[in-house]
Amino acid sequence: MEASNGPGVTAREQALADFARYVNPQKVRVMRAAGLDVVEGRRDGAWVWDLDGRRFLDCFTSAGSFNVGRRHPRVVAAMHEAVDHLDHGNFLLCSAQKAALARKLAEISPEGLSCTTFGTGGGEAVDFALKLARGATRRAKIVSMVNGYHGHTGFALSAAGRDAYRAPFEPLMEGFVRVPFGDVGAVREAVDEDTAAVILEPVQGEGGVVVSPAGYLEALREVCDSSGAMLVVDEIQTGFGRTGRWFASEHSGVLPDIMTVAKSLGGSLVSISATVYTEELREFLIPNPFVHLSTFGGSDLACAVALATIQVIEEENLVENAARMGALLIDGLRTLARDRPEVVAEVRGVGLMTGLKYRDDSMGPRMSFQLAQHGVLAVYTGNDPSVMRIMPPLTVDADQVAFLLESLDAAMADMLSGKGPEPSRDRGRPRRRPSSSGAGGGT
Ligand SMILES: Cc1ncc(COP(=O)(O)O)c(C=O)c1O
Repeated sequence: MEASNGPGVTAREQALADFARYVNPQKVRVMRAAGLDVVEGRRDGAWVWDLDGRRFLDCFTSAGSFNVGRRHPRVVAAMHEAVDHLDHGNFLLCSAQKAALARKLAEISPEGLSCTTFGTGGGEAVDFALKLARGATRRAKIVSMVNGYHGHTGFALSAAGRDAYRAPFEPLMEGFVRVPFGDVGAVREAVDEDTAAVILEPVQGEGGVVVSPAGYLEALREVCDSSGAMLVVDEIQTGFGRTGRWFASEHSGVLPDIMTVAKSLGGSLVSISATVYTEELREFLIPNPFVHLSTFGGSDLACAVALATIQVIEEENLVENAARMGALLIDGLRTLARDRPEVVAEVRGVGLMTGLKYRDDSMGPRMSFQLAQHGVLAVYTGNDPSVMRIMPPLTVDADQVAFLLESLDAAMADMLSGKGPEPSRDRGRPRRRPSSSGAGGGT
């Protein structure tokens, strides 16, 4: 039976009530407190409207999942075309769509990464990357980064750099060691002859938009080379042009052994991930082609959409646009930081993967709230609520960057003047002051 709204209850309110009742009430409370109780309706390019008609510039983009914008017409057309002829396909058989996408990934990935295993989401891609490193090296130890984020599946969670995500589920897998991000000495000390892999995000996303320091990836490459460990770069947030290069590791020129991608590969329409690796590592899979399987990983429909997505990034020069608009945005954020030193502690980022570090933890959620009032959807990061991640689609233009900067300025002014959350429509009493627990969390 179809659910219907009660008299006078809007579709948005009904969705929030049902979500609270049947999914999780605390999530709804946290979202309300941070002004993020948006229920997505229409989505188009860089914009999203909630079911009540309010329009937002999407600067969260599901943590970097909408590089080509939302419902890009060419990607939507590719999906229609695919649906007319395909379904998700039989995972056991070889498929033209999987083959074509694997070939394309080999073409655009850093040199040497020419083999692909598909998955459905980022965590699965990371799980396979670490399985492959262990299987191929026959070693156990995995070195990951404090504040790193790789998803919530088995291996990925064991590599997570935040205790709160791991603690309720311990004991997790053995052999995982964490070191501070950016500290070469700590990696040198942690890596030994039993180390299968060092895994990191070239720019930590959930960790607070922390860019690898100069020379860091080069040093990790050297440590891995001298110990025989695999260097795994998790480009799930940074990939497909986000940082102004196809993949963020390219800024350093370092060639990884394994790279994971997901999110924007799906063109905002489908769920797909990939683990891309060297032929040398593929040797492990030659006698074991069925050692890792995924029914929906790289479905034919998803591969067709992903190919169209990559084509859009190429033909619309979105990597170059990310570099150009990113420079404009970072310039504007620096001006804002100079004008409002009481709010902004630091501007971070590369390309359109940018972050604003506020003076204290409470400002992340408070700014999310204020920005929502000024037509911008932006969320503080999961592992550092004092940092607001600003990651619009790579299709943004100068007018949209200007709108974003004006909204940030107006939101900061409102926050400083004490303009607080408005009285709640539902409960008739003021909303709680936004708390820093939760909304930025995860994906
Ligand atoms: C760097 C990174 N790795 C892995 C993941 C996990 O991806 P998924 O949520 O698709 O499992 C994320 C998600 O935000 C991510 O940002």
